[in-house]
Amino acid sequence: MANLSVSFCGVPFSNPLVLGSATPSWDGEGMKAAGVAGAAGVVPKTIGPVQSWAAHPRNGRLYIYKVDKRPVGMVNIELFTTMTREQWLKKELKIAKEGGARIIASVLAMPDPAETTDLVAEIEDTGLVDVLELNVSCPMPTSTVGMHIGKDPRLAAQQVAAAKKSAKAPLCIKLTPNVSDMPPIALACRDAGVDGIVISNSIRSFAGVDINTGKPRLRAYGGYTGPAIKPIIQRHLSETARALPGFPLMALGGVMSAEDIIEYTMLGATLVQTVTAVMWNGYDVIPRLIKGLNAWMDSKGIKSLDEIRGVALPHIERIEVLANMPPMFAKIDESKCTGCGICKRVCFYRAIEINDGIATADRGKCDGCGLCAQFCPALAATLEE
Ligand SMILES: Cc1cc2nc3c(=O)[nH]c(=O)nc-3n(C[C@H](O)[C@H](O)[C@H](O)COP(=O)(O)O)c2cc1C
Repeated sequence: MANLSVSFCGVPFSNPLVLGSATPSWDGEGMKAAGVAGAAGVVPKTIGPVQSWAAHPRNGRLYIYKVDKRPVGMVNIELFTTMTREQWLKKELKIAKEGGARIIASVLAMPDPAETTDLVAEIEDTGLVDVLELNVSCPMPTSTVGMHIGKDPRLAAQQVAAAKKSAKAPLCIKLTPNVSDMPPIALACRDAGVDGIVISNSIRSFAGVDINTGKPRLRAYGGYTGPAIKPIIQRHLSETARALPGFPLMALGGVMSAEDIIEYTMLGATLVQTVTAVMWNGYDVIPRLIKGLNAWMDSKGIKSLDEIRGVALPHIERIEVLANMPPMFAKIDESKCTGCGICKRVCFYRAIEINDGIATADRGKCDGCGLCAQFCPALAATLEE
């Protein structure tokens, strides 16, 4: 049996899986359920003030985006918690603790950094918090909070410095993916004293139009989450991990399977959070992910996640380097080919022909894109040197 435990900023976690801040961590009972299901950590809904700019819509908040009836992502227009600080600090965090998971408290970075210092102090006073997660990344609030702070290295660093004044637990910052370049923001936060970085929040988005009514499916811009965002988050994570080697990182975005946790670990994450998977499948998905991770590690003889953390990073190349590497060509294994013709249909270099029910690829025409290999249902097409 593999050892799933990890250490994040000196805090031990029994496994790398954490329930992220969202609807399933709406209250203490939800987080307790996640802990009982096996999550090593839980992040409550972002704790902040009850203010007009944090008002919570109750007229439909979620839209599941589907392709061929299969969910690929979700747009939400949910804001922060609707519970008062008192409720959280006197009651809900205590209930959450009963589930046995570590509490990573999500704290809203306030428009005035001095208020952030006070909010962190209040949360710290409960003595229930293992790690702090400063939220500068929600994609839809007004211009004074959320990603509007997180996209600016100077404002983000100011918030880190303010939170650090009262933080006793390790302080992380949850960054926004709605930027073109995350490393300068991460570096500014590190220089301001942050202990870890969480990559990242949801992507600002629009839920589309109901063509029968001509009206938007959700009448405000929201945050896009789930499997569709994983490639975007992995870009930010890997760039940040390469810019800050060895710095404690948590990752989240579209984690639906054990393989996703492994990928994020190979890109440098120590803890991996999940939200949409739980919203679509319930808390039962948590033990399934942990079991899958254990089984994969055992099958590979991997004793600890430390062995694989960041292993993919040195292999990420600049595109100019790739263009100078030897080309590859489509190859069809005739013994596997069923002659279905899908490879020919998706070959825009006209390199594939079907003769007598078998595909053949012309190396002279093949441009090495690899689309045929991705689509071949019989796994007969491969890309080789
Ligand atoms: C309905 C909903 C509510 C969310 N609320 C919060 C929140 O209060 N604070 C926060 O930091 N992130 C919030 N998020 C963002 C998630 O924590 C997470 O960053 C995002 O969903 C990406 O992870 P996923 O693809 O596993 O869902 C919310 C996400 C969803 C779907």
